Formats: sequence, C-alpha cells, structure tokens
Amino acid sequence: MVDRIRELMHEIGEVTAETREEAEQLRLKYLSKKGLVSVLFDDFRSVPPDMKREVGKLLNELKTLTQEKIDALRSRFEDVVMPDSSTEDLTRPVTMEPGTRHPLSIVRNHIIDIFSHLGYTVAEGPEIEDDWHNFSALNFPPEHPARDMQDTFFISQDPAILLRTHTSSVQIRAMEKSQPPLRMIFPGRVFRNEAISARAHCIFHQVEGLYIDRNVSFADLKQTLLYFAREMFGEKTQIRLRPSYFPFTEPSGEMDVSCNICGGSGCNICKNTGWVEILGCGMVDPAVLDNCGIDSRVYTGFAFGMGIERITMLKYQIRDLRLFYENDVRFLKQFTGTI
Ligand code: DAH
Repeated sequence: MVDRIRELMHEIGEVTAETREEAEQLRLKYLSKKGLVSVLFDDFRSVPPDMKREVGKLLNELKTLTQEKIDALRSRFEDVVMPDSSTEDLTRPVTMEPGTRHPLSIVRNHIIDIFSHLGYTVAEGPEIEDDWHNFSALNFPPEHPARDMQDTFFISQDPAILLRTHTSSVQIRAMEKSQPPLRMIFPGRVFRNEAISARAHCIFHQVEGLYIDRNVSFADLKQTLLYFAREMFGEKTQIRLRPSYFPFTEPSGEMDVSCNICGGSGCNICKNTGWVEILGCGMVDPAVLDNCGIDSRVYTGFAFGMGIERITMLKYQIRDLRLFYENDVRFLKQFTGTI
C-alpha cells in the first residue's frame, strides 16, 4: 500500500490541465467517491494495526497534495470568462474605419517633400517670440509703418514678447546658429489679430524657405519656385512674379500661379484674372544677413514664405478657411493623402 501511495504522489506531481474541464476530470479521477485516492481510504481498514500510524500519515499527505494540486489547476481558469452567445465575439475582424490626415498636414508634408528633393532640411522655431526675431532682426525699424502690416498679439510690451506673426522669425534663428551654405524650410503655426472670416483666421500656418550661399541669384529663386509650383499644382502650371515690398528682402516679390481651377481662363476663385497669389519672396536684405552674423559681402540668398491654408484651398477647391478648424469628420474624411 505504501508503494501505491508513493506512486500516486508522483503521478499527481506530474499531472496538468489545459482547460477547466480537464481540471474537473482530474478531480473526479482522484478525489470523487470512487476516485483513486478515495479508494485507498477504504483499503486503509485492512492495514495491520502496527502500520496504521505510518500509512495513515502518508495517506493524509497524499490527500492534501492531491487537493492542493487540483485547486491550483482549477484556479488557473477562474479569471477566464468563457465566451457565450451573449458576449462579444473577440475574434471578429475589425471593421473600424481608419482615420485620415488633416488636409493642412497633407499639404504641409507635400511641401516638405518637394523641397527635400532640392536638398532643403526642415527646422522649427518657437511660437512665442521676442521682438528681435519677429521684427527687429528682419529689418522692421521701431515705429516703422511696416510693423502695422501685421497685427500682433502681444504677451508683454516691455520687453516685447509676442506670438510670432510669421515663420520668418525662424530664418533669423537658423542664420544666428549656422554659417552658410544654408538650405532650409521652416513650417509652423502663426498668429495675427484678425477678424475670423471665410478668407482670414487669427491662427494659420506658413512654410518659410531660406537659401544662403555664395552667388545665389534671383534666377535661382525663380527656378526654385517654378519647380515647386509645378510639383504642387501640376506640370502645366505657370508662375508670375510681381514686385512687392517686405522689410527683410530687397528686391521683394509676390508670386502668383496660374489658376488651377479654370486653367487660366477666369473664374471666381481667381477673380477672373487667371492668377492666384500664393507667396511672398525676395533676396535677403544684406542688413538682415549682417544682423545674424553672416557676412553680406560674401554671401547672398533668397527667402520665401507661403501660407499653407491658401495652397490647400486652391489645391482642393475649398472656399471657406474656417472648415479647417471645425474638425467636422464629414469634411475631414474626404482627404486621403498618402503623405
Ligand atoms: N513673412 C511674410 C508674411 O508673413 C511672407 C514672406 C515674404 C516671407 C517674403 C519671406 C519673404 O521670406 O522673403 O507675409
């Protein structure tokens, strides 16, 4: 009998169960009334009295061991909720619609992609700026009417801390940090104190571009912008540069693209002119280079700044800029850009 007990002890040490049912089967096999352990207790009656003490002790050990082992196996399955017809089918394929990129992100990424093919790198600057980076270093003299061109949100007046009115502030930071050659673009959010309408918002997005090296000319600027316009709006796109004024560039220009909606024949988007303005640009004023520690006798360069909302509206024929900020999924899910 002692051998049989030891044999069962060994056996119980080895058993395992993969399911709740298997654990239950083991309980029946060993501990039910006719189970292998229980029947040993019946046999115990026939053990000679002088051995009862030793055998009884061993038998109790076997019973405890079996009970503990089977309890442990059963407890493994206690937390597992068995699926039944009233619970979710967790194996069902997912039918959730994937999200889409915001149209402004699609166009921003497209702009970055186009300029990265020309060797431009991307950098960002702070949205909260000081007067130097947003105005003074860009050649806006104090009290000069040019500062009125941009209605500024001031955080403090003295010292002047403000929400940047354009991403041109980041070209100053880039030039202060590194010597030419510089070929960079700076995407970002800008702020102006404007009444919100279908065509204007107090928060919008720009991408600034900067190219500084020896012998950079206006012809380089023109060709770069033509390449950009054709990549963005299609091969047949024409560009037109008109003289303009910015304190930080001389000469300065504004660039129009042929209207991609009517193809130049005239519509209400281009106000029947066949052209739509998309950016400001020019040769970086030598005073700006000197402000940033770049020798204007050695280096020249160009800069440009474009509004992402404007380009997105043109590309997707969106007539009201406020749609970009309302987050209406019926609007947003129409855009499925890959970048
Ligand atoms: N900063 C100008 C604006 O917000 C845009 C601009 C014009 C940027 C000419 C430039 C530039 O770099 O050369 O209206």
